[in-house]
Amino acid sequence: MRKLIIAIDGPAASGKSTAARLFAKRLRYAYIDTGAMYRACALAAKEAGIDMSDESALDALMDSISISIKHDSDENKIYLNGKDVSAAIRKPEISGLASGVSAHATVRNKMVDLQREMGAQGGVVLDGRDIGTVVFPDADLKFFFVAPARVRAQRRFDELIMRGEDPSFEDVLNDMIARDEADSSRTLAPLVPAEDSIHIDTGALNIEEMIDLLYAHYLKKVQAK
Ligand code: DC
Repeated sequence: MRKLIIAIDGPAASGKSTAARLFAKRLRYAYIDTGAMYRACALAAKEAGIDMSDESALDALMDSISISIKHDSDENKIYLNGKDVSAAIRKPEISGLASGVSAHATVRNKMVDLQREMGAQGGVVLDGRDIGTVVFPDADLKFFFVAPARVRAQRRFDELIMRGEDPSFEDVLNDMIARDEADSSRTLAPLVPAEDSIHIDTGALNIEEMIDLLYAHYLKKVQAK
């Protein structure tokens, strides 16, 4: 059976990564966390002391860095110039910088090329903001996750606490709303649902229910082929 390309898009902390990872595991597909790739670009820019609005410096940076993802059965490990930066890219500061850096054509072009290369053979679940609209507009299955902002902020808050950070809930909520606004209103590949995407409200579902629902859509798709 041909292996599918499955896109999961949606705003910050809508549950995409967890669902994409577990869904890929269930299907024995590869999982590609595209947000992690933009986060790695942001970390590279920060380490090089580059301002997120300096287009020509970002251009040069994109020519000089290498980003790769290693698929593990349980998570993605992300490497920047051969170094594992999986933990460093999860800092709250990097979330905002990633949103800024991802608005630049030079960054998006490089990441989109890499993502297409990694997913071209199928058998892959990718999560991000523009997978179903730009990266793989012909993806076999497209999901768009939604959930109320407070529910998403609570998830991100819990995640940060688990990592030993000490954030304020209001800061997490406000940062997330600002980032969604920036990601949705940018000119290039903004966060918008693909016309043919299936909307999933993740606020009302636990993770098992979510994976079962995605799997039911997957079965419907493969049986219709
Ligand atoms: O999914 P995330 O929160 O790790 O993504 C970090 C930032 O990267 C997000 O604010 C916008 C950007 N991004 C993007 O522009 N396109 C994607 N496909 C994935 C992420």
